[in-house]
Amino acid sequence: MSILPPLHGTYNVEKEWHEGEPFRWERVHPEFTWYETGKVNMTYECVDRHVNDGKGEKTALWYISDAKEETWTYRELQSEVNAWANVLRKRGVQKGDFVFIFLPKHPYCHIAMLAAVKIGAAVGPLFEAFMEEAVKDRIYDCDGEYLITSEEFLERVPEKELPSLKTVFVTDKHVDGYISITSEAEEESTESETEWVDLDDGVNIHYTSGSTGKPKGIIHAHRVMIQQYQTGRWVLDLKETDVYWCTAHPGWVTGTVYGVFAPLLNGVTTVIHGGRFSAEAWYEVMEKAKVSVWYSAPTAFRMLKAAGENTRKRYDLSSLRHILSVGEPLNPEVIHWAFEVFGLRIHDTWWMTETGAQLIANLPTRDIKPGSMGRPIPGVQAAVLDEEGKEVATGELGHLAIRADWPALMKEVWKNEEKYRSYFPYGKEWYLAGDLATMDEDGYIFFQGRSDDMINSSGERIGPFEVESKLLEHGAVQEAGVVGKPDEIRGEIVKAFITLNNTYEESAYLLEELRSFVKRGLAAHAAPREIEVLDELPKTQISGKILRRKLKERDSTPG
Ligand code: PRX
Repeated sequence: MSILPPLHGTYNVEKEWHEGEPFRWERVHPEFTWYETGKVNMTYECVDRHVNDGKGEKTALWYISDAKEETWTYRELQSEVNAWANVLRKRGVQKGDFVFIFLPKHPYCHIAMLAAVKIGAAVGPLFEAFMEEAVKDRIYDCDGEYLITSEEFLERVPEKELPSLKTVFVTDKHVDGYISITSEAEEESTESETEWVDLDDGVNIHYTSGSTGKPKGIIHAHRVMIQQYQTGRWVLDLKETDVYWCTAHPGWVTGTVYGVFAPLLNGVTTVIHGGRFSAEAWYEVMEKAKVSVWYSAPTAFRMLKAAGENTRKRYDLSSLRHILSVGEPLNPEVIHWAFEVFGLRIHDTWWMTETGAQLIANLPTRDIKPGSMGRPIPGVQAAVLDEEGKEVATGELGHLAIRADWPALMKEVWKNEEKYRSYFPYGKEWYLAGDLATMDEDGYIFFQGRSDDMINSSGERIGPFEVESKLLEHGAVQEAGVVGKPDEIRGEIVKAFITLNNTYEESAYLLEELRSFVKRGLAAHAAPREIEVLDELPKTQISGKILRRKLKERDSTPG
């Protein structure tokens, strides 16, 4: 295998890691107020701290969409966050409450999150493309009382089915029957008290799919800032002169952690692109904002690659200095493509919603082995374990495990202690990711697949059970088995195998209807791109459970 030597790196991570005492996360504490006061607040560290340090005039957010462009300095961001925080407080939001945020990629989404966190609430950012049922499931599950959204999204908020919801704020100037948070904020003071909280108080909740049941609420505590700040520095290699762009929406954990918190903790300029993917739009954003550090996902890189070199050549991307990837396996071909067209390696990173921050990564100062996710970052220890929880020999396949704990590890799975415990099947020492991996003699880790039925399409985690349940709600479907089918661009696509109720016959029209049924209920990314009708589905003899594995095999063996 070819090893790619490191190209750059602002910080001497290896030295920082090994100098003096071996690195421990406690070494990061002096960066935060906690060190002096025993209390913290994520928003203070993301915003107020920089203004207090004399960096108020620096651009914090740079919004670019087809229609317009806006910038917010750290001081402007602080004033706006404070005014919104005052509105929320006046309207009854208190420490420990959940505030859901259902907004497009726009500075308002950042401001809403920071304002709620400032007053001690925990935020639940929802992906902008979620449909009614996905929105309902999440708010319902944790009895969410507050929601900040916009008029155009209201039709996807089933308020009548959400008895816990007390107040819905909109970011528009006026919508009958709703509180306009922007209008009320105009009347508010631009100063606001920070609610000082404990490291273990909740900061956000993200719902994530498992292979069974509905999505589970993963809660993180303010202590994530330690690792989110440090990985922003070491892995994203952020320095204050950087213009940084993370392409994920805050509804996904990457968009919250590395789209909102980590860059602000590191005091950089964050680019927010409002709008859909197109190669032209993305390159234009990079050219216009002179993006220097860019965090995206393999599917996006593959789509850019497919758009061709002629498209790329039309843009000046000379400001780029560091590219990172997350969420799905990064093919070596993509790394080689990036080297040809940008003159840069793509640095893969591995983590999960539950882990709260990156754990395994290709640091900019280290060699890259294409095909490997990299090595554990300082302060993290990983292993590959067998079925009994013992480490396997070098190069052998096993379960990817991380030695617990680390600062960003989830605080809890909402109302589901059993689920939380299921990540630690061998006791408290090892957190099990659910990923299969191998590790080579240099400690480089290679992702090999999932040990469960989870589907990863374009880096988005989809639980087959949710899609199957949705399909079964349709009168035509008798049984459904949903699996991931390998796909060149998206990594995997969602494929459904179904049997039909007697009164229905297969037709292109029906299959399209089923697809849009799932799309309308859950979200576009969960809708099966392929549906195949069978006479019967393979099942276990004893319990009669549908054998997804058999379906998957069937799909990879033609005929
Ligand atoms: O299977 C792994 C895959 O994404 C899963 C976590 O999904 P999610 O919680 O949605 O978080 C995604 C981004 C933080 C993992 O269990 N995954 C994540 N990163 C990689 C990856 N698979 C291969 N290579 C990666 N770099």
